[in-house]
Amino acid sequence: MIDKPEWHDRQWFATTVRDSDLVKTSRAAVPPTTVLADRDSHSRLRHEEREPTTVLPIAVNADENTEAAFADFTRAFLVAANAAATIPSVSSPAVLQQRAQAPPESVCNKKQQPARTMPFEVKPLPYAKNALEPHISQETVETHFEKHHKGYATKLTQITEGKPEATMSLEDIIRTATGPIFNNAAQVWNHTFYWECMMPTAAASSGGGPSGALAAALEKSFGSVEAFKKAFIDRAAAHFGSGWIWLVQRPADGGLEIWEGHDAANPLKAGLRPLLTVDVWEHAYYIDRRNRRAEYLDHWWPLVNWAFVASHLK
Ligand SMILES: [Fe+2]
Repeated sequence: MIDKPEWHDRQWFATTVRDSDLVKTSRAAVPPTTVLADRDSHSRLRHEEREPTTVLPIAVNADENTEAAFADFTRAFLVAANAAATIPSVSSPAVLQQRAQAPPESVCNKKQQPARTMPFEVKPLPYAKNALEPHISQETVETHFEKHHKGYATKLTQITEGKPEATMSLEDIIRTATGPIFNNAAQVWNHTFYWECMMPTAAASSGGGPSGALAAALEKSFGSVEAFKKAFIDRAAAHFGSGWIWLVQRPADGGLEIWEGHDAANPLKAGLRPLLTVDVWEHAYYIDRRNRRAEYLDHWWPLVNWAFVASHLK
């Protein structure tokens, strides 16, 4: 983080920001005296600081997921900047002239994205988009799947172009990659698993809970299925920020445990076997439930496809 006072004499604010920072920033509201910046860009930022008329390109990911976050970040940042009364409005003639002379290389503009075949494709939903109603609305599924889930695949395609990961499986990328490539690959995989962990309301309402070997394994590791449910939901409700809550199996002894990770974290990277997951990013429930995550979890639980969960048990 860079303290804003370092920038008092600037006419233009720009920086590079990581995906994860953008998302967090949009969620937590930008502190009025700070700017988030990528660590790798510090030297560049400081170099540009000596040339106050230069507009530093804003490197932001172009997918649907980050555009809104970027807009939030920019809006909050300009409010903070203008509050210092040293920054001209973004529509002022000076800024517009500056922009014309040195247009920012904004990758938010999709027209600048090279067209290419997409090697990372998202598996179709295993049910209709309205099949989870009334627990999860069609609008939520539509937005979550079409914008967020597919957005990660689009981004992964872009950032792996020409790299070894372009031809690797998602699982191999998750196990070996770091940074944005890991984040986007894991988010593609996590979402596909998340959709599979649920089943249509009509089918779920006539089904039961865990049974057979899965029920026995849950009882052995948690005391009872009900105790597992409480522990899982409690962890999901209490998870700070964005992330995923998982039921996993330890390959070493076959025992089950609850595993949680922030942002795109995936238990494959930790050598664990995923059985069940729930997405606790706000985009999974905000349309239906606003910020009421516990309410979302109450509606998610009856949709769990226990046959799918059991199919991963070894
Ligand atoms: Fe999600």
